[in-house]
Amino acid sequence: MIITPRTRGFICLTAHPKGCEQNVLNQIEYIKSKGAIDGPKKVLVIGASTGFGLASRITSAFGSEASTIGVYFEKPPAKGKTASPGWYNTAAFETEAHKANLYAKSINGDAFSNEIKEQTIALIKEDLGQVDLVIYSLASPVRTHPVTGKRHKSVLKPIGQPFKNKTVDFHTGVVSDIAIDPCTEEDIQNTVTVMGGEDWKMWMDALKAADVLALKATTVAYSYIGPEVTEPVYRKGTIGKAKEDLEATAFKINDSLKDLNGQAYVSVNKALVTQASSAIPVIPLYISLLYKIMKTNNVHEGCIEQIQRLFSERLYHGGVVPTDNEGRIRIDDWEMREDIQAKVKELWDQATSENLAQLGDLEGYANDFFNLFGFKVEGVDYDAEADEIVNIPGLQE
Ligand SMILES: NC(=O)c1ccc[n+]([C@@H]2O[C@H](COP(=O)([O-])OP(=O)(O)OC[C@H]3O[C@@H](n4cnc5c(N)ncnc54)[C@H](O)[C@@H]3O)[C@@H](O)[C@H]2O)c1
Repeated sequence: MIITPRTRGFICLTAHPKGCEQNVLNQIEYIKSKGAIDGPKKVLVIGASTGFGLASRITSAFGSEASTIGVYFEKPPAKGKTASPGWYNTAAFETEAHKANLYAKSINGDAFSNEIKEQTIALIKEDLGQVDLVIYSLASPVRTHPVTGKRHKSVLKPIGQPFKNKTVDFHTGVVSDIAIDPCTEEDIQNTVTVMGGEDWKMWMDALKAADVLALKATTVAYSYIGPEVTEPVYRKGTIGKAKEDLEATAFKINDSLKDLNGQAYVSVNKALVTQASSAIPVIPLYISLLYKIMKTNNVHEGCIEQIQRLFSERLYHGGVVPTDNEGRIRIDDWEMREDIQAKVKELWDQATSENLAQLGDLEGYANDFFNLFGFKVEGVDYDAEADEIVNIPGLQE
């Protein structure tokens, strides 16, 4: 079928298999171009199909020849209906990994459930024995709690008072004012339940109890801090509470890994266009200004560049892993540079619908958004028939 984008606000209902494949090939090429990393050999990536998780899987496999198991929650294709992009990304990744004689298998299902944890552990036992790196990169709006059976929904709201600021509709370039009402106490609890550290800890406890963590195993989860302008809705909002909880969980997991000489880290990553971040109000305007400034200063990175740097200059550079005062790895260092942030602040006040296309990188934002779904990718013929039915070679049924 001829596949075109069908967008509804910050989501796209279709995905292009060839475009997703090309994105994955480009990321693999990038990792190969940066040379070998003396990194992990057996890796579990939870949230492996898009964004930072996919980049972590690609970096592990093609940077340090690791065997990888990916866990994700993606929609398979049906006749006349495309799959979700993470499905096509995984199909392309596993095809390329197998061509390179690298072990790559995956599990599609709800990572919050006990069943998927058990299935993953059984697969590790059978095929790899143990893993030496566990990446936790889930981004989800909902979680069904495995003990209570209750379904929790996360929200992106300020705490204590309403938040008023501007945002942009990146499809039209219209900058408008938004007002978001503060959350309830229950909203905070729900958001922490979905995006906080409890599930990460459950994974690590289950993996340890099953004896599938190698000596000196490392685990990393991803967080975000960001600038003052997004604080009320991000770091000091409901999602920020969840990130605080995730960061505190790293210390708990560290304690529980002591006898294995293992380590748990949180890495604070840069703001990037992903399915998760497009949903957060105000962030698209911030990112379009940030992109422009970081590109002008030659310090712009995508997910793959970020994770390549995380592996080669933080986690596996042959020395102590550098962290900030709160024990977090920082690869948002270039985003948070004083000169970069000062410039964002200056442009933030000036940005209007009329000038944003010049002041910011609206085009870069929109392009990245379409790229997530395999559209507007260079070298792909979108007028050609594409087969929407694509199988994932290492998918476990
Ligand atoms: N995008 C950013 O700007 C940014 C910046 C810093 C940190 N982070 C953090 O990085 C992490 C990953 O975010 P991302 O932006 O790469 O998101 P993403 O939406 O691209 O990826 C989310 C992944 O989680 C999987 N997933 C979601 N629900 C699942 C479920 N129930 N079971 C199994 N898999 C499930 C998806 O299949 C996908 O593989 C998050 O913790 C996010 O907060 C993101």
